[in-house]
Amino acid sequence: MKYKSIILLTSSILIVLTSMYVALTKAYASETIKVYSERQPFLIEPLIKEYEKSTGNKIEWIFSKKGLVQKTILEKSRPVADIFLSSDIARLVDITEAEANFDIPFQKNVPENLQSKNWTSLTMRARVIYAHNDLNLNNISYEDLVLPEYKNRVCTRSGYHPYNISLFSSLIAHHGEEWFEDYVIKLKANLARKPQGNDRDQVKAIYAGVCDLSIGNHYYYFKMLDDPNQIVWLDKVSPIFPNQDNYGTHVNISGISIINDENYDASVDFLDFLLSDEAQKIYANDNNEFPVNPNVSASERVQKLANNAKFDSTSLEEIASNRKAVLDILNKINFDG
Ligand SMILES: [Fe+2]
Repeated sequence: MKYKSIILLTSSILIVLTSMYVALTKAYASETIKVYSERQPFLIEPLIKEYEKSTGNKIEWIFSKKGLVQKTILEKSRPVADIFLSSDIARLVDITEAEANFDIPFQKNVPENLQSKNWTSLTMRARVIYAHNDLNLNNISYEDLVLPEYKNRVCTRSGYHPYNISLFSSLIAHHGEEWFEDYVIKLKANLARKPQGNDRDQVKAIYAGVCDLSIGNHYYYFKMLDDPNQIVWLDKVSPIFPNQDNYGTHVNISGISIINDENYDASVDFLDFLLSDEAQKIYANDNNEFPVNPNVSASERVQKLANNAKFDSTSLEEIASNRKAVLDILNKINFDG
């Protein structure tokens, strides 16, 4: 009887000790954080190395330009990666709608309109208007693109591209669906040619005399500036940050979501790191974007181009909720056709 209770006591102590050991090693073991990324790590690599050294965690960067959203959604019951890093709000919303991500804590380094409970922004990219210099414009609005004087003078990529869907969704947020339908009918009527190509192709078309105005992301200005074959287009074309007289220029984001709860604490820690002053400085400059962390300024040349431009402060989550309405209206009027 006595022996029995000693054995029982010893084994329960052993069980307690083992579970304590398991809990402790779990808490302090170094983790490998796998990042599905639509962007290459490039300039941030030295920072990541430093992060790995100071935390003991390892970052495994899995880069692909296409297919990561589908992969994340397919794998949602057994996630392969811990974090999804996107170059557009639409992709983050797709993952959220598929319930393939987890809630994240409120990010104090990110403006409220640029985060939700499921994702946060990392950088901002402005959707600007490129205009022929002969137009002599220093201010223009998205709404102006449908003015009768611009008939056959506007170029754009597909209306269905995520960048345009996001801009159009913001127009619904400001003016409503009925207004937007009338707007895209007029916009289509003002196009010099069917929507085609990418943002930079439209600037080339302005240079070539096909049109006078186009819509494109601001950082393509620097890509063209840095490209010996494209820099010449900028002799005739300049970007303008639209809607400075009212709600400000529309911004899209690159952002991040946690897609696995097994490595949750380490993932949140890495997210904090990407939003830290130090990482934001480098990460945003990597692609000539605007940091979301208000303590950090954009690179000198980005600041010079933006000239303190005002950005639309409408919640991106609200904007994204208009995506379906945008698609329905684009289909209805056959915008690209
Ligand atoms: Fe882009």
